[in-house]
Amino acid sequence: MANFNLNINGKNTQIDVDPSTPVLWVLRDHLNLVGTKYGCGIAQCGTCTIHLGDVAVRSCQLPVSVVGNQAITTIEGLSENGDHPVQQAWLEHDVPQCGYCQAGQIMNAAAFLKHNQDPTDEQIDAAMNGNICRCGTYTRIKKAIKTAANSENA
Ligand code: FES
Ligand code: FES
Repeated sequence: MANFNLNINGKNTQIDVDPSTPVLWVLRDHLNLVGTKYGCGIAQCGTCTIHLGDVAVRSCQLPVSVVGNQAITTIEGLSENGDHPVQQAWLEHDVPQCGYCQAGQIMNAAAFLKHNQDPTDEQIDAAMNGNICRCGTYTRIKKAIKTAANSENA
């Protein structure tokens, strides 16, 4: 076990865990931040996506020991009131079906739009390619990303 001082959603958080513990389990099991979901556990589905700094990462394969002082943001910390432009666009387009993959989709889209405020269809496809939705909400996700990009440009 080792002690880690993490910055999660703007708060300093002390945690005593095995250094190899994936951040996903630190969030879910130790901190009760259960908005980040477990899908495959092998970095193949995107369901567990969070931000490390301003980059989208898959928390199921991210050992807590490599985080250091980089800020972690989860779906719970993306916005104060669920009103991030991506979340608003998701509502406008009624994107989720079962909802299970959606926190990961939103976190991936939000990080993508930080780096590209005027994406082409191809860029959206490439950025979202690894985030799997078993309900097939891809068309609505793409529309919502375009709406969010336009609102961020406004
Ligand atoms: S649960 Fe992490 S990528 Fe699937
Ligand atoms: S909304 Fe059901 S898996 Fe994506």
